[in-house]
Amino acid sequence: MKFFAMNSDDAAKALANRDLTIAVFGMGKMGLPIAVTFLEAGYSVVGVDINKELVVLLNQGVAPVIREPGVEEGIRKAFNEKKFFATLSTEEALVSADIIVIIIPIIVDDNKQPKLEPLTNLMKEIGKHLIKGHLIIQETTLPIGTTERVLKPILEENSGLICGKDFGLGFSPERTYSGRVIADIITNYPKIVGGVDDQSTERISLFYDTFVEKGVIKMSSATTAEAVKVFKGVYRDLNIAIANELARIAEKIDVNFYEVRDAVNSEPAGNILMPGAGVGGHCIPVYPHFLLQNIRDLGIDSEFIVSGRKVNTSMPQHVVEKIKEELLNISRDLEKSKIVLLGLAYRGNVKEHRYSPTIDIIKNLKNTNANVWLHDPLYTKEELETIIDVKTEEDLHLILKNADCVVLLADHSVYKSITLQEMDSLTNTPYIFLDTRNIVTEKSTENRKIVKIGI
Ligand SMILES: NC(=O)c1ccc[n+]([C@@H]2O[C@H](COP(=O)([O-])OP(=O)(O)OC[C@H]3O[C@@H](n4cnc5c(N)ncnc54)[C@H](O)[C@@H]3O)[C@@H](O)[C@H]2O)c1
Repeated sequence: MKFFAMNSDDAAKALANRDLTIAVFGMGKMGLPIAVTFLEAGYSVVGVDINKELVVLLNQGVAPVIREPGVEEGIRKAFNEKKFFATLSTEEALVSADIIVIIIPIIVDDNKQPKLEPLTNLMKEIGKHLIKGHLIIQETTLPIGTTERVLKPILEENSGLICGKDFGLGFSPERTYSGRVIADIITNYPKIVGGVDDQSTERISLFYDTFVEKGVIKMSSATTAEAVKVFKGVYRDLNIAIANELARIAEKIDVNFYEVRDAVNSEPAGNILMPGAGVGGHCIPVYPHFLLQNIRDLGIDSEFIVSGRKVNTSMPQHVVEKIKEELLNISRDLEKSKIVLLGLAYRGNVKEHRYSPTIDIIKNLKNTNANVWLHDPLYTKEELETIIDVKTEEDLHLILKNADCVVLLADHSVYKSITLQEMDSLTNTPYIFLDTRNIVTEKSTENRKIVKIGI
């Protein structure tokens, strides 16, 4: 009998004995570490993915390199102990599984509309193979209300089963930071849980409670649980937008943004974030559009959220304007200058470039016919060239040769290994060093001008 159909005593026993199998749909940068947390807790896991090569690799006990501590060892160990296998087949996974966890990405299209089809199609497929007693947990961030209003009817229609009676369904957002996903889930934060009915909330909570050290926060519904993740994303996007806006104003009124920020943040109510070249990744830039879609359906608008997005998406253009202006100040022609961008990834030490501001900077610079080069130690030359049409070079010293302008976009550790003095000896001095991450503490010299957003 599957977990949701068990009586309370049997469910408690199954949890205590870890006698349950979890199917995780989406073996990506989030799905793999999530699967490892279940394995570390003692459960068995079936990993499901549509990527054939990935499934073959996982079935050799090998996890792809995603720079997430604990993942490669966790998969290898569980595979050897026969606690883990991967499959392309929804049916095979559902036969084995008691609990189904979904963590496939939902993004927005060119018109900023959430693209739900990958998930709704998956729900149809799961519905067809659903067995009485399954418990389904959505972890992928969704527009508010999707689990109850969109996914539940699809599952019921395709399975002929009734939600809350025959199977359970709920939402439990992953609240993690790339690079420390396993620790965030197991030790750092409580798990937010909201079922579409009380029994689903109860069973999902009991499950996570067996290994999440900070415990579970039970929400009144799946919809309120969805709102937690979306509201947090919007809150962060707007706070970054305020930092970006104030930094741009500081530049105009001849005030050092960072000096002011340090002083403001010296009291508890002051928490101005860092400005930057924009907001990337498939979370923060996407979730405000989920909420805008939600309220648009109700005929409401939010100028505030729209403005925040506008500020953040205009930052790559601001970076390009700064490059132009500063090159002009050292009497260089933009079209004849070598501009080296350091970092395709949207964040230091994370191999993720979706919505990365670097991509917009390259597109903007290419409109000016500038001589643009891109370096990122986390990507091979071939990978970079497949992602974007730009000149690349894997050797950092080589790419910096004769550069007129170096733009630091991702604070990868590798970039901390090269000193400004070394850079001075490679570049076409005097040159511009545009530090969008505010990591350099050195001052400008006659060989180099250090430029930052907000100064
Ligand atoms: N907190 C964070 O820092 C953070 C970061 C990234 C993503 N996320 C969340 O995690 C979600 C997933 O992101 P990710 O980084 O793991 O994405 P990813 O692109 O690394 O991996 C997604 C995986 O899902 C697979 N997939 C797609 N459709 C599938 C289907 N129908 N069935 C089975 N597998 C399928 C893909 O082949 C891929 O392997 C995001 O949408 C977001 O909600 C959170």
